[in-house]
Amino acid sequence: MGKFVIEGRKSLKGRVKVSGAKNSALKLMAASILGSGRTRLENIPLIEDVYTMADVLRTLGAHVMFDQDCGAVDIDPGGIQSFEAPYQLVRKMRASILVAGPLLSRFGKVKVAIPGGCNIGSRQIDLHLKGFEFMGTKSFMEHGYVHARINNGQGRLKGALIDLDFPSRGATENIMMAACLAKGKTVISNAAREPEIRDLANFLVALGADIQGAGGDRITIRGVEGLKGASYRVMPDSIEAGTFMAAGAICGQEVVIEGAVAKNLDIFLLKLKEIGIHVEILDPETVKVKRGLGPFKPVQISTLPYPGFPTDLQPFMAVVLATVPGVSLITENVFENRFMYVDELNRMGANIKIDGHHAMIRGVQKLSGAPVTACDLRAGAALVLAGLAAEGVTEVMDIFHIQRGYESFEAKLAAIGADIKKVH
Ligand code: EPZ
Repeated sequence: MGKFVIEGRKSLKGRVKVSGAKNSALKLMAASILGSGRTRLENIPLIEDVYTMADVLRTLGAHVMFDQDCGAVDIDPGGIQSFEAPYQLVRKMRASILVAGPLLSRFGKVKVAIPGGCNIGSRQIDLHLKGFEFMGTKSFMEHGYVHARINNGQGRLKGALIDLDFPSRGATENIMMAACLAKGKTVISNAAREPEIRDLANFLVALGADIQGAGGDRITIRGVEGLKGASYRVMPDSIEAGTFMAAGAICGQEVVIEGAVAKNLDIFLLKLKEIGIHVEILDPETVKVKRGLGPFKPVQISTLPYPGFPTDLQPFMAVVLATVPGVSLITENVFENRFMYVDELNRMGANIKIDGHHAMIRGVQKLSGAPVTACDLRAGAALVLAGLAAEGVTEVMDIFHIQRGYESFEAKLAAIGADIKKVH
């Protein structure tokens, strides 16, 4: 299973360049199903989830080749014959559900394993299915699979006005992809507004789709007759950038993060400044962070869909606040169970109490190294950062969670002064 062994109390200094965005790349790969020609995605992060999505596409019949030297992937969807995403792949990666929209659009039907819960919450897909139903499909669950098929007699999805109960990223992405080849116009209201949504829309437009308004809460898609292949460069990963900013805030003498689109992280950066962390935006894609000498003060944070405070950076902020004097409060509004890491952090000497969706963090002088276990992707990475600051040795187990979403995580940290080794 592998673990990271970290010798703490090191101060980080140097420059780190973020990779392509995991939470965009996976959707662009799924969207390539819609094209009649080859797609080349550049700046693809070489992480486990990307390899899993490649396996999903291969299972469907696509030809997928990685160009490791160029950090690119070539996808030829021409051979896709199957419309079934199997359980053994979907359970590994919930984002596999995002092949549903493209497959429905291409084949008029789809059979995809129900993603099932994960460590941070139930991760429903009702909003995805409701959107598809508005577009003329019927769906039912059987033997752990969702079966959806177009049943409007036309064999083609039809455009619809879809108002999402919640600005779900996955539902927005799945419906937007399904609408590209639908007959007529689709409008998604209360759409998710993350930068990755805009990245997906830009790629779909490169394939020949007609989309306006992505990145806002109302997206209009006019169905076209067909889409081609395209070459496209994946946007930089804002969450990875935020992870290294948090590293700078926790134990940074001076960390410069390159490729970080600062405006995508403005509320996170504002909160770091509110705590008393030194943050300097050197240019629109380069941010310098150092812990500085304080004084530091406690803050309140509530996670919300974009442009609110990103839930994916919530565990990192808890580590920053663990040694900030006073009492801070984090409220998690997006997922039901995203404080699983708190018990592990308390084993390292933090003083955090959970009450439902709230975490009350009473700052302590310092953390102490201990054996801890990663329980999900971001929590695992946050425990690594805690180990960098803690006194003594920290071992982080189950690092496969971290390898799902971070390319060369330990190498990037070691390059800026961390004492971290991967042990099999
Ligand atoms: C995406 O998940 C990201 N994953 C998550 O990042 C991220 O935390 C999340 O968006 C929120 O920003 C990928 O992009 C692969 P949602 P997604 O649909 O699309 C509920 C990471 O660490 N909901 O916005 O699944 C759902 O249960 C991962 O990189 C429904 O109830 O997020 C959740 O509570 C973790 N019904 C909330 O909405 C639905 O049909 C947010 O879900 C869909 C969602």
